[in-house]
Amino acid sequence: MSSLDRCHNIEALRQQAARYLPRLVMDYIEGGVDDERCLLRNRSAFDDITLLPRYMVDVSSLSLSRSLWGRTYAMPLGIAPTGLAGFARHGADLMLAQAAVKGNVPFVLSGAGTASIEQMAKVAPEHAWYQLYVSREQRVTEDIVCRARDAGVQHLVVTVDVPVHSNRERDVRNGFVPPVKPTASTILNALCHPVWLARFVSQGLPRFENWAPYAPPGASAKQIADLFSSQIPFTQTWRDLARLRQIWPGRLIVKGILHEGDARQAVEAGADGVIVSNHGGRVLDGAPSPLTLLPAIRQAVGPDVRVMMDSGVRRGADVVKALALGADFVFAGRPFMYGVAAGGQAGAERALAIFQRELSLTVSQLGGWGTAAPPERSPSSR
Ligand code: FNR
Ligand code: LAC
Repeated sequence: MSSLDRCHNIEALRQQAARYLPRLVMDYIEGGVDDERCLLRNRSAFDDITLLPRYMVDVSSLSLSRSLWGRTYAMPLGIAPTGLAGFARHGADLMLAQAAVKGNVPFVLSGAGTASIEQMAKVAPEHAWYQLYVSREQRVTEDIVCRARDAGVQHLVVTVDVPVHSNRERDVRNGFVPPVKPTASTILNALCHPVWLARFVSQGLPRFENWAPYAPPGASAKQIADLFSSQIPFTQTWRDLARLRQIWPGRLIVKGILHEGDARQAVEAGADGVIVSNHGGRVLDGAPSPLTLLPAIRQAVGPDVRVMMDSGVRRGADVVKALALGADFVFAGRPFMYGVAAGGQAGAERALAIFQRELSLTVSQLGGWGTAAPPERSPSSR
């Protein structure tokens, strides 16, 4: 049995990733903002919801597959965008993309990713979505959007919940904030993770690949990172989204929505879908759990807008809870980072297989997709 096969749940993958990765990288992946209350809230919100089973139902042919804009995926779960994945493992973005193709789920390449749109579209022409960070310079944003279109990408995810930097104190303590300067103890800790370190030293610093074209020719990874930091974060308004709608021919998805009024405005500006998300507890510590907001947001935008969610999904049952509360589709971020860190593409595939098995068991136990009972309320049908 390989060590990946011994990982029976996402928590086991997390522990394996923690053994492989130095603290600097694990903290970057794991961490949240300020006191990390939002991070905890994302999990406790799922714990507070119960699922009400129906029995005496034939579950032998229940299907997990889910259609989204005409494409049928193996299950209603995709891989959320995670920046700087190359720090976890060289080539991580493309490993995630290939795992998504194999598992037939969507993969969203981060705007702070360490593979280019063009590389991603080659390995995952049908499954790859692109997450846009709007740049300070409009010409750069427009060029990136055109590159995504020309590469055949059909889904553009515009992240709106990073108007300014957030205070991630683990990264501050480790010296992993621009200008990056790891502390002596961080360096010592990296020396205790020799397998990661040897790979990192031989393969070099990961680059923000999508930003390389806007840096001078031959720019180093550090110079490209400086360019990225000069462009992002940038405070957008709804006017920026309307402009994107004019130049983007594919599906437009707004990520980072929490307020139902914002969900409505996104749709008015031309969005085809929203991802209800608090960025995995990484931007505003006081933010509510997206799970608790799903019923109101579903009601605000109506049945024709695709409502997706992320933040805190760690079990197949969590996917079922989100769907029962009004989501059409769900994403997870850290679980796939754990997987790819623990075992490359095979580790990402393992994370997908864990979710799929748990999802199948839950749906079968429920006698279908089920109904969810929020705390202190009696269960009701959707
Ligand atoms: C993220 N997330 C994120 N979101 C985004 O729109 N662009 C990005 O570049 C990143 N980068 C990023 C890096 C890392 C290491 C993490 C953990 C997360 C947020 C991500 O897409 C998603 O919203 C959360 O990860 C969901 O929460 P869970 O599943 O990690 O709990
Ligand atoms: C993060 C940025 C990259 O969450 O969005 O780390």
